[in-house]
Amino acid sequence: MTDHSTPLVKLENVNKHFGALHVLKDINLTVSRGEVLVVIGPSGGGKSTLCRAINRLETIDGGQIVFDGRPLPAEGKALAALRSEVGMVFQSFNLFAHKTIRENVTLGPVKVRGIARDKANARAMELLERVGIAAQADKYPAQLSGGQQQRVAIARALAMDPKMILFDEPTSALDPEMVQEVLDVMVALARDGMTMVVVTHEMGFARKAANRVVFMAEGQIVEESTPDEFFTNARTERAKDFLSKILTH
Ligand SMILES: Nc1ncnc2c1ncn2[C@@H]1O[C@H](COP(=O)(O)OP(=O)(O)O)[C@@H](O)[C@H]1O
Ligand SMILES: [Mg+2]
Repeated sequence: MTDHSTPLVKLENVNKHFGALHVLKDINLTVSRGEVLVVIGPSGGGKSTLCRAINRLETIDGGQIVFDGRPLPAEGKALAALRSEVGMVFQSFNLFAHKTIRENVTLGPVKVRGIARDKANARAMELLERVGIAAQADKYPAQLSGGQQQRVAIARALAMDPKMILFDEPTSALDPEMVQEVLDVMVALARDGMTMVVVTHEMGFARKAANRVVFMAEGQIVEESTPDEFFTNARTERAKDFLSKILTH
C-alpha cells in the first residue's frame, strides 16, 4: 500500500559518526516521489555517507530515515527488499568482470526477484536499448568504454524496477568526452519521472534536470534551493566559495 502524498524518503535529525568524526549532523531532508535532488559540496562533506545511509549501506546513530512510509529495516528480508527498491550507481561502475553485459543486468532480477531467465533477458535488452548499448550485450565490461559501462550500471539499477536511484558522482571517474552520454541517460530518466538523488558537480545536469539542489559541507545541509537560484545567487559564503572553485577550473 503506497500513499503517494507522503514523501518517498524522509530524513529526520539524522546523525552519523565515524569514531570521533561527526559526518552527518542533524540532517533533515525529504525527497518527494518523482523528484530529482542534486547534492553538491566539497569532498569529505558527507555526501556519500548520506546516500549510503538511505539504502542502509551505513547505519546511522541518531534520528530516523523513513522510506516509502516505513522506517528503514535493520536486517533480513525487509532489508533485502529495501536494497532492491533503492538502486545505486557509483563512481566506479562495479560491474561483474566475468559476466557479460546482459548477465550483469539480469543477475539481480533472476537471483533476487526470482524472475524467469527468458523474461529477465528480454527486459535487459529493452533496458540496454534504452541506455543505447544493446549492441554490446554479449561483450564483457572490460571491452566497453567507461561511459558505456556506466550506462550498463544504470540499466542494471533499472532492471530491479527501483522506487528511486541514488547516483554517487556517476561521471567523475569518466574521461571528459564520455560524461555527456551518461548525463543524457540520466536526464531522460529524470524526464520519465524517476525519483533520483544525484551527487554531482555537473551544473548542466543540475540545471536541466534537478528540482532542487542541496549544498552539503562538513556534515550539514548548508543551503537548499532551486538550481537556478543556487548557481546564480548562492546565499552562503561557504557555497559561494565552493562555486567559485568549481566554476573556474
Ligand atoms: N567507513 C569510514 N570510516 C571512517 N571514516 C569515514 C568512512 N567513510 C567516510 N568517512 C569519512 O567521513 C567523512 C565524509 O565522507 P563522505 O561521506 O565520503 O564525503 P563526500 O562523499 O562528501 O566526499 C570524510 O571525512 C571521510 O573521510
Ligand atoms: Mg563521496
